[in-house]
Amino acid sequence: LVISITEEKAKIIYGGKEYEFPVIVGTENEKAIDIRKLRSTTGLITYDHGYGNTGSCMSRITYINGEEGILRYRGYPIEQLAERSTFVEVMYLIIYGKLPTREELEAFKRKIETNNMIHEDMKLILNGIPRNAHPMAVLSTMVAALSTFYYHEYGEKVDEDIIRILSQIRTIAAFSYKKTIGEPYVYPREDLSYAGNFLYMMFKRGEYSYKVDPVVERALDVLFILHADHEQNCSASTARMVGSSRSPLYTTLSAAISALWGPLHGGANQKVIEMLTKIHEDGGNYEKYINMAKDKSSGFRLMGFGHRVYKNYDPRARILKKYTDEVLKQLGKKDPLLDIAKNLEEIALNDEYFKQRKLFPNVDFYSGILLKAIGIPIEMFTVIFAIGRLPGWIAQWKENMADPHFRIHRPRQIYIGEPKRDYVPIDERE
Ligand code: SDX
Repeated sequence: LVISITEEKAKIIYGGKEYEFPVIVGTENEKAIDIRKLRSTTGLITYDHGYGNTGSCMSRITYINGEEGILRYRGYPIEQLAERSTFVEVMYLIIYGKLPTREELEAFKRKIETNNMIHEDMKLILNGIPRNAHPMAVLSTMVAALSTFYYHEYGEKVDEDIIRILSQIRTIAAFSYKKTIGEPYVYPREDLSYAGNFLYMMFKRGEYSYKVDPVVERALDVLFILHADHEQNCSASTARMVGSSRSPLYTTLSAAISALWGPLHGGANQKVIEMLTKIHEDGGNYEKYINMAKDKSSGFRLMGFGHRVYKNYDPRARILKKYTDEVLKQLGKKDPLLDIAKNLEEIALNDEYFKQRKLFPNVDFYSGILLKAIGIPIEMFTVIFAIGRLPGWIAQWKENMADPHFRIHRPRQIYIGEPKRDYVPIDERE
């Protein structure tokens, strides 16, 4: 695909002079002013706190249309991939840019499932971590620790490093869970699916047999698909930023995991369940919490609602809602939190405050209820998000490293601190 540089220009008139900058048009007709020569020609920089209006790159990986609630990976609509693909196939698509042939997929799967054991000495590091540490702190630590076992300069053994982390992130997550509950580690098998192997390592207990429930396995696989990438979100941008210094892949991914942990990003799925539980314990009085969310002074936000890009229903939330119903039915479970969530959604979508601000349920609103039904502990919800987002971080990092305009990311600033002043000896200070 060729990015067309249209005849359209953007003109800036500054200091009595007129400057022209090209307008770039993307595949879906998104437009950007190319200001790469702004500072050298005008001496100006732009200011855009939080980068809400700034494109950091041109990318071929994911397209989101926030107004229409569209999400596509490499051009394929998320609804079709959730319905017809598998997470391993989506990993291949996102990282290598095309749907694999049957042979390519089989070879990719075999590589993943024959690289699923962590180095035995990684357990020594895990054993040294406090048993009650937050699972995202453990994941970030253990992924960075992979750099102590497999360090090489950027560019060597990239595909080997990618396969290893795609496979072993499950083992690290499951082993860290077993450690918190004092059960023996369950080693991965080579004959299970990606999601099936993770469930096996999480829930098989010692010598007791464990059978993967196909409905749960499929729901988790789809949840991973829905989380696989989301263009330049906070953690993906972190992967691009850290990778731009040529930091090794595993330390770059550890930084992305740390960014995802925040409650405004991937940490929201844990916060949603905590919020729904609080509402449930407060007698299910969801109107009270809707009113708190509308009252700025309350400091309370409706977790799982709102999005920087989606100003429509997050397509991922719609699909997760369906699978949540299916898994609860399959397991014969009822969860009052699901009813509260559906009521909250119903009220919020008809309330002026939310409508005016285009606040809709996002991916985190239902994912926690599904994970709770599967038996994933609440502290691990963001770990599951990280497993899903891993191919996206890898693809964004890889695309950035291969960018023809590759350079270290180094934004500028506007200084608003003190003017020049001289040093004051300590006894002369107030
Ligand atoms: C993810 O970027 C991605 O793609 C992220 C993600 C991904 O796949 O990587 O989609 C995953 O992180 C989903 C988002 C999960 N976070 C939450 O659910 C936390 C709750 N949501 C909000 O904190 C908020 O909506 C954000 C952080 C998601 C978006 O923040 P923005 O774009 O900075 O929006 P904002 O804070 O400027 O809010 C705009 C207005 C404000 O009101 P006004 O000042 O205009 O009166 O909307 C209000 C906000 O107060 N608002 C909310 C709200 N979210 C925004 N009010 C109540 N409850 C909320 N949840």
